[in-house]
Amino acid sequence: MSKKPLVYLPDPLLRQVSKPIERFDDQLRKFADDMFETMYAAPGIGLAAVQIAEPIRLIVLDVAKDGAEKSPMAFVNPKVVHSSDTRSVYEEGCLSIPDYYAEVERPADVHVEYFDLDGKQQLLKADGLIATCIQHEIDHLDGVLFIDHISKLKRDMAIKKFKKMAKDRGTTRQII
Ligand code: NI
Repeated sequence: MSKKPLVYLPDPLLRQVSKPIERFDDQLRKFADDMFETMYAAPGIGLAAVQIAEPIRLIVLDVAKDGAEKSPMAFVNPKVVHSSDTRSVYEEGCLSIPDYYAEVERPADVHVEYFDLDGKQQLLKADGLIATCIQHEIDHLDGVLFIDHISKLKRDMAIKKFKKMAKDRGTTRQII
């Protein structure tokens, strides 16, 4: 396993739509291990493959509380097949948008169809933090960020701040 470098706002990769996964092999499982290692090291509770510069439809989550036993979950080609009309609000953050948090409203309950790392189809019925987290990560696969769910004014302020930080870091990537 190895930790990978994260991709940060405003990297245009974060706006890319990730490709469906067709092969369930050791290479995929090894890549998922790298994602877990990167997520735990950050630390974070969710990560999409595109956040380590691999635009494929794979996300990992672990929403276990601090001190509780680890509860790693990996989702290949996840798709929301049902969302409740009831909504909930959580303060969200993102490993690609460090030290920035905002309240986001999303459906409170979702059903997600996905494949596990062995290629077996699964269904997750989620509520609470895990429902929010999985929707946040699935958004990443479609090039959507949590700041897209907040007001344009707040979003523009956040993007401006991160563009400046990228410039100060001397990033060579094109800025969106
Ligand atoms: Ni994120």
